Amino acid sequence: MKVISLVNQKGGVAKTTTAIALADYFARHDKKTLLVDFDPQGSLTTSLGLADDPDNPQALKFLSLEKSIEATPIDYNIDVYNGNLHVVMSNIGLEKANMLLSSRPGRERFLRRAINKIAQKENYDYVIIDSNPSFSILTMNVLFASENVLVPFKPEFNSHKGIMQLFDNVEEMKEFQPDLRVLGFVITMARKNVKSVEESIASISTFADEQGCRVFRPAIRLAVACADAPSHGKSLSCYAPDSNVAKDYEQLSRSVLETLEGML
Ligand SMILES: Nc1ncnc2c1ncn2[C@@H]1O[C@H](COP(=O)(O)OP(=O)(O)OP(=O)(O)O)[C@@H](O)[C@H]1O
Ligand SMILES: [Mg+2]
Repeated sequence: MKVISLVNQKGGVAKTTTAIALADYFARHDKKTLLVDFDPQGSLTTSLGLADDPDNPQALKFLSLEKSIEATPIDYNIDVYNGNLHVVMSNIGLEKANMLLSSRPGRERFLRRAINKIAQKENYDYVIIDSNPSFSILTMNVLFASENVLVPFKPEFNSHKGIMQLFDNVEEMKEFQPDLRVLGFVITMARKNVKSVEESIASISTFADEQGCRVFRPAIRLAVACADAPSHGKSLSCYAPDSNVAKDYEQLSRSVLETLEGML
């Protein structure tokens, strides 16, 4: 089992969209995949046409915060979205985890513990975690639970803000979780033939080289089908399979999967 997370403190860079596209591709290619919505915004959940219990979202239950570690078999209740894809849903109720975790020892380790427990029951090939746009105890849990971080990057003015901080946070977390690393960047919502976009991509590519990670190709183009799919509760491959942007995500997902499989 490999755990991959989509992380970028900047909001609206297509973390959720990319998490869904990857999970959807992995599941269609016979990889048993668990998709974890670990964002109190719950966008991943609603984008798949799902709805969670506002008082007690699955992602919160999944952490088993209320009871002692030994006594609690994980109270997971996942939705089967398509044969190989399970989803842990979330919503605003997950905010409570920030408060509940703050006074707990090992507070950054609960998501990993939950994933390890569920992995004993279900033979997941991949766990994909969608994170919230901030750096909080929730994000620390995401990093501690991950081996591979993918950074969705929307190429525009100011896109680099927060990226250095993210790499610093990963470095710090590596002291506790040595297997953690940034696998690379995914360029999202890229407008074609725009000079500032090309400059931004060139500069993040240089930065990726310096950091020893990569920029996955192709860049995902800006396209309305991507923005429309969630309002129909469908993955992009389901909503607009013939669109160019769906093809971008297919190629990108193949490249990510090949990289991960090559690391076996
Ligand atoms: N390639 C694209 N073209 C056009 N719209 C896109 C594309 N990718 C994502 N979007 C839209 O942009 C918005 C932001 O995307 P998304 O929710 O995936 O970002 P996010 O990084 O998860 O945001 P947040 O930080 O709030 O969690 C959404 O409305 C999404 O549908
Ligand atoms: Mg999101």
